[in-house]
Amino acid sequence: MSARSSRPTILAVVGARPNFMKIAPVWRALEARGRYRLRLCHTGQHYDDNMSKVFFDDLELPRPDVYLGVGSGTHAEQTGRIMIAFDAVLDDAAPDLVVVVGDVNSTMACTLVAVKRGIPVAHVEAGLRSFDRTMPEEINRVVTDVLADLLFTTSPEAEENLRREGVPPERIHFVGNVMIDSLRFYEARAERSTVLDDLGLEPRAYGLVTLHRPSNVDDPEHLRALAGALEAVGERLPLVFPVHPRTRRMMDERGIAPAPERVRRIDPVGYLDFVKLMRYSALVLTDSGGIQEETTALGIPCLTIRPNTERPITCTIGTNTLVGTSPERIVAQARRVLEEGIGDARVPDRWDGCAAGRIADVVDAFFDDR
Ligand code: UD1
Ligand code: UDP
Repeated sequence: MSARSSRPTILAVVGARPNFMKIAPVWRALEARGRYRLRLCHTGQHYDDNMSKVFFDDLELPRPDVYLGVGSGTHAEQTGRIMIAFDAVLDDAAPDLVVVVGDVNSTMACTLVAVKRGIPVAHVEAGLRSFDRTMPEEINRVVTDVLADLLFTTSPEAEENLRREGVPPERIHFVGNVMIDSLRFYEARAERSTVLDDLGLEPRAYGLVTLHRPSNVDDPEHLRALAGALEAVGERLPLVFPVHPRTRRMMDERGIAPAPERVRRIDPVGYLDFVKLMRYSALVLTDSGGIQEETTALGIPCLTIRPNTERPITCTIGTNTLVGTSPERIVAQARRVLEEGIGDARVPDRWDGCAAGRIADVVDAFFDDR
């Protein structure tokens, strides 16, 4: 090993809500090795306290070494601002490895900047494909994976996707799911959340909703139709709906307001509260990526309001059902699940709380070989 790399610097990147619970276990695992200088960069893609700060508190993440404050904008504006700002971060931090997670604009933008400067990139949660390029995240996934040097996958089909795209097999590491590492690590703490009492909810007597995909919430008429479907489900099972800011804006602007006794809209909640809400719900309805996985790990039925999923294993062996976006189908499927329950479901291989340790092993080997 060269003198410079005797204590390699690893720069981890976060930007948006689903990044925080993915980086937390990776950070802990790398820190435990005691051989790296760790640096954290927050792009500021998400910036409201309930989309960002609450996760630093709940997950006990260190304060970021750098905060880029890029905020919202078009894809080009946001991606461009991240790239320009991250380039300067690399000047200062001079990392030996950049670690990115997930599929948000921050993931792709930082990858692109790092590889162009010859800095290797590790992508946690590589190989997921919805095969739907109208989804902004699909573009981010494809670009990130073609460029990254270490690709950490959550499931066998992710590895197949990467191989089909010509990624050299030695770059791919099937480590499992870091999101489930967080779920397991924080579940005892989540149990102590008072969110059910605070909201006056009884276990299994409510459903939980999240919606934020542009394809669902950016067209007001489509969102109105979905709100109608939620209201119909809410007649049978009252729903709690922590509303993403993107969705809140559209609902407020267009006066989309399902009856509150059936669909109770609240602000986004922190991680520990959300895990508790999931665990005690009768049913989850969502278009989130991560929530499809968390409900599978928790054994809670999930209806995914999308035409496709990049996480098919949650449907084939987990508790998830892809129900599409037709209001009739959503209502019918919710009724079916509430009456019949779900059949046998399992937790996928290596969603065992130990994925980040496997990642740290690969990172150690990566530096040992240099
Ligand atoms: C982003 C990710 C998406 C991820 C989601 C998780 C991309 C392309 N999209 O979508 O993959 O599933 O985060 O939640 O990277 N806003 C606020 N406050 C905030 C953040 C956002 O008000 O703290 C509002 C702004 O009006 C903004 C809009 O939400 O324009 C969308 O934010 P943005 O980060 O562009 O995309 P998300 O829809 O959050
Ligand atoms: N989540 C949360 N509070 C909420 C909604 C979601 O803590 O009000 C958590 C959820 O448990 C999961 C992550 O946020 O860990 C998923 O993020 P999101 O749905 O925003 O993004 P996606 O996974 O779709 O990219």
